[in-house]
Amino acid sequence: MKRLEDKIAVITGASTGIGQASAKVLAKEGAHVLALDISDELEKTVDDINQEGGKATAYKVNISQDQQVKDFAEKVKQDYGHIDIIFNNAGVDNGAGRIHEYPVEVFDKIMSVDMRGTFLVTKFLL
Ligand SMILES: NC(=O)c1ccc[n+]([C@@H]2O[C@H](COP(=O)([O-])OP(=O)(O)OC[C@H]3O[C@@H](n4cnc5c(N)ncnc54)[C@H](O)[C@@H]3O)[C@@H](O)[C@H]2O)c1
Repeated sequence: MKRLEDKIAVITGASTGIGQASAKVLAKEGAHVLALDISDELEKTVDDINQEGGKATAYKVNISQDQQVKDFAEKVKQDYGHIDIIFNNAGVDNGAGRIHEYPVEVFDKIMSVDMRGTFLVTKFLL
């Protein structure tokens, strides 16, 4: 028996990078991965997992949008009844920089995805 057999694992930002790699590991350990992202690349991550014998489902959700996250949580409740794991991974590349040079729009975007998005996903799923 795999370590995460029959567990429902939600992971945000699953199209690329750390999120994609983590989604593959979770699926390899037996979890059914509910993969969220805004990018079209998401389908490829999910297809790869399913072709390799894992279980994954794609959800195009912008985690900074209340209604989208709420709708996703409702769907999860209907389709699976519960969740076991949340990995709040999605984030925006901040490009780093000194504060006096840092664009206000970039700061707002990071707050809306990294901070607010994490809050929304956790709140509505719980
Ligand atoms: N890679 C690093 O060195 C590093 C260092 C520190 C922190 N982090 C953090 O780790 C996380 C993953 O990093 P990564 O390098 O794999 O990043 P990445 O840019 O490769 O992946 C982030 C994913 O989040 C998705 N995303 C962005 N906004 C979204 C939104 N509003 N709703 C849903 N999905 C959204 C993107 O489409 C992308 O697929 C990020 O939160 C990042 O800030 C990364």
